[in-house]
Amino acid sequence: MEHLCLKGISKTYLAPNGEVHALRQVDFQVAEGEFVAVMGRSGSGKSTLLNILGTLLKPTSGEYILRGQQVDQMTEDQILALRRKDIGFVFQRYRLLRAYSIWENICMPLALDQADVDAEYLEDLAERCGIPDKLDNYPDQLSGGEQQRVALIRAMAHKPAVVLADEPTGNLDYKTGMSIMSLMEDCRREFGQTIVMVTHDNECASYADRIVRLEDGRFVEE
Ligand SMILES: Nc1ncnc2c1ncn2[C@@H]1O[C@H](COP(=O)(O)OP(=O)(O)OP(=O)(O)O)[C@@H](O)[C@H]1O
Ligand SMILES: [Mg+2]
Repeated sequence: MEHLCLKGISKTYLAPNGEVHALRQVDFQVAEGEFVAVMGRSGSGKSTLLNILGTLLKPTSGEYILRGQQVDQMTEDQILALRRKDIGFVFQRYRLLRAYSIWENICMPLALDQADVDAEYLEDLAERCGIPDKLDNYPDQLSGGEQQRVALIRAMAHKPAVVLADEPTGNLDYKTGMSIMSLMEDCRREFGQTIVMVTHDNECASYADRIVRLEDGRFVEE
């Protein structure tokens, strides 16, 4: 079954020196439980695509159907509820909340959804990400790569049906990057998650079932 479906999606930004056509009439389908890697040069539209899939950005035109629900016809409240429940998003620039501890950051999606905290599960993720001793720290007390792993744990905290990750290993050394990939792979196996991951790294992309490539706002053949 199709989990994510974009039909004729375009996104045009208004920048100081004119319009930027970040996505041009893009069609994209991801099946339930599928792991897709999105590659392409800097500026080709990868984050724009992921942000639209994550309902964080509205397309200029086109249709988006997420798990059978027509997102472009939903109200803001409906979209918010859907995002909190179904989507885990790893931001390219982490976006941790500086005033909150790592543990509080990780639990934030659960708190917003008034869901129970599965402490054992979260501690296990922290252990597997190599930051079990950092949970009481604040984001500014962590390295960039450590913050990146916190962002991943936060995205996984509520065991979402869909995980969208924007360069989740962009700041990690090879070995740590690979352990993050196998963690995502294990979570997918356990929870049947659908994953779309942006990456510049061929090795990371090789974990995916399928690789798609963007070029100047369009998909190109491999
Ligand atoms: N908010 C914005 N306002 C104006 N232009 C934008 C905005 N966000 C992105 N762009 C432009 O849209 C294009 C696609 O940007 P996007 O962030 O999707 O690229 P990307 O493929 O993720 O690049 P990278 O690999 O560097 O992260 C770029 O030309 C970028 O400058
Ligand atoms: Mg990007």
